[in-house]
Amino acid sequence: MFRDTTCGALRASDAQKRVTLSGWVQKVRDKGFMCWVDLRDRYGITQLIFDADRTEASLVELAKGLGRETVIQISGTVILRDSANPNLPTGAIEVLVDQLTVLNNAKLPPFTIEDQTDGGEEIRAKYRYLDIRRNPVKNNLIFRHRVSMEVRKYLSDQGFIDVETPYLIKSTPEGARDFVVPSRMNPGQFYALPQSPQTFKQLLMVGGMDRYYQLVKCFRDEDLRADRQPEFTQIDCEMAFVTQEDVLNTFEGMTKHLLQEILGLTYTEPFPRMTFDQAMKTYGNDKPDIRFGMKFGELNAVAQHKDFSVFNQAELVVGIAVPGGNSMTRKDIDGWIDWVKRPQIGASGMVYVRCGEDGSYKSSVDKFYTEQDIAAWAEATGAQPGDLIWVLSGPASKTRTQLSALRMETAQRLGLRKSDEFAPLWVVDFPLLEQDEETGHWHAMHHPFTSPKPDQMHLLESDPGAVKANAYDLVLNGNEIGGGSIRIHDKATQQRMFQLLGFTPEQARAQFGFLMDAFEYGAPPHGGLAFGLDRLVAILGGQETIRDFIAFPKNNAGRDVMIDAPSMLDQAQLDELNIALSLKS
Ligand code: AMO
Repeated sequence: MFRDTTCGALRASDAQKRVTLSGWVQKVRDKGFMCWVDLRDRYGITQLIFDADRTEASLVELAKGLGRETVIQISGTVILRDSANPNLPTGAIEVLVDQLTVLNNAKLPPFTIEDQTDGGEEIRAKYRYLDIRRNPVKNNLIFRHRVSMEVRKYLSDQGFIDVETPYLIKSTPEGARDFVVPSRMNPGQFYALPQSPQTFKQLLMVGGMDRYYQLVKCFRDEDLRADRQPEFTQIDCEMAFVTQEDVLNTFEGMTKHLLQEILGLTYTEPFPRMTFDQAMKTYGNDKPDIRFGMKFGELNAVAQHKDFSVFNQAELVVGIAVPGGNSMTRKDIDGWIDWVKRPQIGASGMVYVRCGEDGSYKSSVDKFYTEQDIAAWAEATGAQPGDLIWVLSGPASKTRTQLSALRMETAQRLGLRKSDEFAPLWVVDFPLLEQDEETGHWHAMHHPFTSPKPDQMHLLESDPGAVKANAYDLVLNGNEIGGGSIRIHDKATQQRMFQLLGFTPEQARAQFGFLMDAFEYGAPPHGGLAFGLDRLVAILGGQETIRDFIAFPKNNAGRDVMIDAPSMLDQAQLDELNIALSLKS
C-alpha cells in the first residue's frame, strides 16, 4: 500500500493517527536539528517534520537531502503544530515521520512548481506534465471534469443517448479546412477528420435515436486564436421532432443547470434573445457582450447634412458613450485614436465628444456642430454627463466592426468585462447565406444542412441574401459558446441548397449522396446544436484562453511542442502509404 490517506486530508481531529502518505517533495526547510518537508499530491500539501530529538538521525539526514519533486513515501504520526497555518487546509497538523522511502528521484524541474511560476509559456508547454502539477492548471482540469460530468448527467436525464461517431470520415463542411489522413489500404485516397459529427448526428435521427449527444473531438485546420484550437471538444447534440423553440429550451436548461451546479448561480429568468440583425445594429457583432451597455447610437439623422464632409459622405455614422470617459486626458484620447487607426482595426479617424458634468459638450468637430446638434448625439448614444462619446463613420459593415472592437477594448480597460458576471444571450434568425465579397459566391453561414425559414423558401433563388435560417447561437459574455440549427430533412430542399452553394448535382451526389439517400427513407424533422466545451469551461472558469483548460494543447502554430508534432514521416512509412512528397518550400 503506497498510502492510506492523501496530502489534503488530515485535520486537527486526526492527531495521534498513524498515517502513510505518498507524493512529491514541494519544499525542504532545513533548520539544523529540525527539518520540514512539504509533501504534495493532487489533493493538497501536508507538512512533514523530522526532528533530531524524535526522529532517527539517518532519517533526518535523508530528509534534508531530498530534492524538489522527488517522489517519496512516508509513515508517521499526525501531531498538532505549535503554530497552525490558517492558509492551508492541513495547516493545523504535521506528520512526525519515522519511515521514509524514496520512490523515485527527480531532476531539478526547469521551472518552479508553484502557483506563481518562473517558467515562461514555451518552457511550460514543453514540460506540460510538470505544469499540470501546478495548482492553476490542475484546478482547471478538475473544473473541466466537473463541467463534463454535469453535462453528461443533465443530458442523460433528459433522455439523450451518448453515441460515438467515426473520426475517419469524408469532409464535413463547417467552414474550415480539413485535416486529412492517408489510407494505406486505398492508395491515393484520404480520410478527412471530422470538423464536427454533423452528418452522422443527422443520420442518427434518421436512424430513430431521437436524442443524441456526444462529448467529441472536432478537427479544424484554421488560424488559431485564444479561443480556437485545431482539435477541440464539442458537446454535440441532436433531437428529432423538435422546433427551434424546443432546442433553445433544452439547452437553456442545460446552461442554467451548469451555472447552478458549477458556480452556484441561480438563473431563473429566460435568457434574453436578440436577432442577428439587432445584434449587428446594436453591437456591431453577432456575439455581443451584454454585461455592459455602450450600445451603438446611429447618428446619420443628426450628424449628416451639416458642413462636416467626412460624415456627409459616410454610409454610416455611429457612436458609443464611454461611461465616465470625460476624465480621459487629451493624451489618453490621442492614444485611443491611434488604437482605432491600427491596421488591425483600420479606422481612418475618430471623432470624440466630451460630456461635461455641467451638461456642456466639447467635441473635436465643434466648428461644424452647435452644442444643440451634439446634444442629439448624446441622446442617441445614451451618453450621460461625465461620459465621452466616440464616433466612427464609413461603410456600414466595416464601421460597425471597428466600433465593436473599440467597444470591447474600452470595456476591457475600464474593467466592465467582469469574469464573475455571466450574461447569456441567444442570437437567433441568422442569415442562411453570406456572400464572398471577391467571388460573389454564396456560402452557408452556419452549414449547408441548415434549414431556411419555411416562409422564406421562395426567396432562395431570387434574393438569397435576404433569407433567414432557423439558426441560433448561444453567446456567453461576448463569446460564441454554442451554435446550431433546425435542419433540412428532405432531399429536394437539400439538393436546392447545394445548387445555391455552387455544387453541380454530380458533386453534391459524390460528397453528400449518402445523406440525401437517407432523407428518402423517412427522415424525421430534426435539429440540434453543439457547444464548444473548451470555451464553455474557460468562460465558466472566468477566463477566455481555452488552452489553459486543455491538458495537452497546441501552440499558435498548431504544434505540440512537448511531443514535437507534427513531424516528418520516414521514407518507409511514406512508401507504405504510396505517398511521394514534393515540398514547395
Ligand atoms: P459550430 O461550427 O458553430 O457548429 O461549432 C460549435 C461550437 O464549437 C466551438 N468551436 C471551437 N472551439 C474551439 N476551437 C475551435 N477551433 C472551434 N470551432 C468551433 C464554438 C462553436 O460555437 N455542427 C455544428 C453544430 C450544429 O449545427 O449542431 C457546428 O459544429 O463554441
